[in-house]
Amino acid sequence: MTQNKQYENRSVKIEGIELSLTSADLLNFDWIGQKNVLEQLLAAWLVIDPNDLPLNPRLIGKPGVGKTTLACAAAKLLKKELYIFQCTMDTRPEDLLITPVIDQMGKIRYVASALVSAMIQGGICVLDEANRMSEKSWASLAPLLDARRSINSIVTGLKIVAHPDFRLCATMNEDASTFEIPEYIHSRLQPQIYLDFPEADEERRILKESLPFIDAGIRDYVVDFLQRAHLSEENYTIRDGINIARYAAKRIKSLKTDQVNALGLLREAILMTLGNGALIYLV
Ligand SMILES: Nc1ncnc2c1ncn2[C@@H]1O[C@H](COP(=O)(O)OP(=O)(O)O)[C@@H](O)[C@H]1O
Ligand SMILES: [Mg+2]
Repeated sequence: MTQNKQYENRSVKIEGIELSLTSADLLNFDWIGQKNVLEQLLAAWLVIDPNDLPLNPRLIGKPGVGKTTLACAAAKLLKKELYIFQCTMDTRPEDLLITPVIDQMGKIRYVASALVSAMIQGGICVLDEANRMSEKSWASLAPLLDARRSINSIVTGLKIVAHPDFRLCATMNEDASTFEIPEYIHSRLQPQIYLDFPEADEERRILKESLPFIDAGIRDYVVDFLQRAHLSEENYTIRDGINIARYAAKRIKSLKTDQVNALGLLREAILMTLGNGALIYLV
């Protein structure tokens, strides 16, 4: 029987210590529209001379504009393994690096995080929603983000140097619910790549790609709604649009009749996704 690649167990031995690796994320995202941000990200990762180093860019924008998708699509283009580390306020330095766990035999096993697994395998690590992390956790990454390209795991006593193909980027939401990043980390996470709302025809293509099974009518309606909201500086994004269109399509389908009030159901989908205030952007 062939093993599901997603659950393949991989481990490596470094200085006599066995490390279990986290498996790569199997995501298949393509980037639609806004070519410049994709080019900026790929350029930041490029190494142009034996003495050159890759940069660690920061992808910044409102929640749902496509930051994580951009990083995933870039990894796919580069044909590299992708490792997403979801950062939270509670992320501890060892969570970012190597954690000890007790196995079934009562023995200690060391597990490399998505970040360290990417460093060892030469993959791409996305520190997702990285602005949620505390300074203490950021501090453990300082040597990784400069010319040393290494981390020190206190738990195992290991110093691990990144594979030359290892690349990193951090995504950050432009909202206030987060920690300030310390200056010495700020300067190591450059350049800053800003993502904005897509144009109407890009949004239409993203909706079509994400939900190929929905009606063109629903799609146009949702794009109109989003564009009107963007003009008024609302924070509604294509992710909201995808949720609205998906729910409306399910509602319409579940009624099992051709006599549906599609507009009424779309209105309901918008109300249930974004609340009452969003209805003013409806035609
Ligand atoms: N340019 C784009 N190309 C393809 N899909 C996109 C694009 N922008 C946004 N999306 C879609 O929008 C949704 C939200 O994007 P995501 O990357 O999760 O946003 P963020 O990380 O900024 O919160 C995803 O379903 C993603 O597939
Ligand atoms: Mg994201």
